[in-house]
Amino acid sequence: MRLSQQNVSFSDEELDIRSPKLVPLITYPHYSECEYKDRIIEMESLRITSIILGGGGKTIVNNTHVAGKGCVGIVVKAKSGSKVCALKIRRTDADRKTMDNEARFLKMANSAGVGPILEGQTKNLIAMEYVSGQSIIDWVVGNNKATKSKMRTVATDVLEQCFSLDEAGLDHGELSRLVRHVIISDRPYIIDFESASTTRKTCNVTAAAQSIFLYGIVANKVKKILGNTDREKTIIHALRTYKHFHTRANFDAVLDSLL
Ligand SMILES: Nc1ncnc2c1ncn2[C@@H]1O[C@H](COP(=O)(O)OP(=O)(O)OP(=O)(O)O)[C@@H](O)[C@H]1O
Ligand SMILES: [Mg+2]
Repeated sequence: MRLSQQNVSFSDEELDIRSPKLVPLITYPHYSECEYKDRIIEMESLRITSIILGGGGKTIVNNTHVAGKGCVGIVVKAKSGSKVCALKIRRTDADRKTMDNEARFLKMANSAGVGPILEGQTKNLIAMEYVSGQSIIDWVVGNNKATKSKMRTVATDVLEQCFSLDEAGLDHGELSRLVRHVIISDRPYIIDFESASTTRKTCNVTAAAQSIFLYGIVANKVKKILGNTDREKTIIHALRTYKHFHTRANFDAVLDSLL
């Protein structure tokens, strides 16, 4: 869901980018004056004027609610004028020196119709479309209304996006950890292209299908929702065939195996 004109809700706290409260987030986890100043200049170059804390974000960093946190970045809701975006701020201890590759891969994914839209990038920052929703596991577990048909709609949409990435020759690289890489909004969004590659053999469909239907925490719940049938064998067979030949017909056979 594009939330370019989204209102700030009651529990949100909108702070000017220079607010002292934001310093530990902007230079998480290690502050240095030089790093802080650079990042403020980078935000200004992206026309980011404020950062919004709260907003129902479950992740807490330094006693403040943010949209998310990983090994590479802290993600916050930010504003550029009246426009809301997600701002991924490189952690000062990240195992990469810039956000260049991630931005490049996100742009490629966008060209394939996948991922939050890239809105701007600097050395330490990526501004992108803010996706308001739940992680796929919260959606599956918490949503009592995750009926078979809704489940199939979401799964099919994720796999169609994976097929588009396979077709584009972009391997996401972390779709076996689907829980951290799919947000369910009005539709599913695949996020976080920092480990992507254009040189590895693409295995987006196989990795995601395994996480949704075969192994792990999401798959266990999905199996309960869809009911136990002989589906597993059929899926494994369809995935093996698709793995060898990434054709639309073989992909359709993967989708058919979900029914
Ligand atoms: N565009 C977005 N809109 C809303 N929330 C987002 C967006 N991108 C990321 N997030 C939130 O921030 C979290 C961390 O983002 P991301 O996975 O990109 O960071 P990371 O440091 O690469 O994480 P990891 O260590 O899991 O690879 C996500 O799990 C998600 O909750
Ligand atoms: Mg990541």
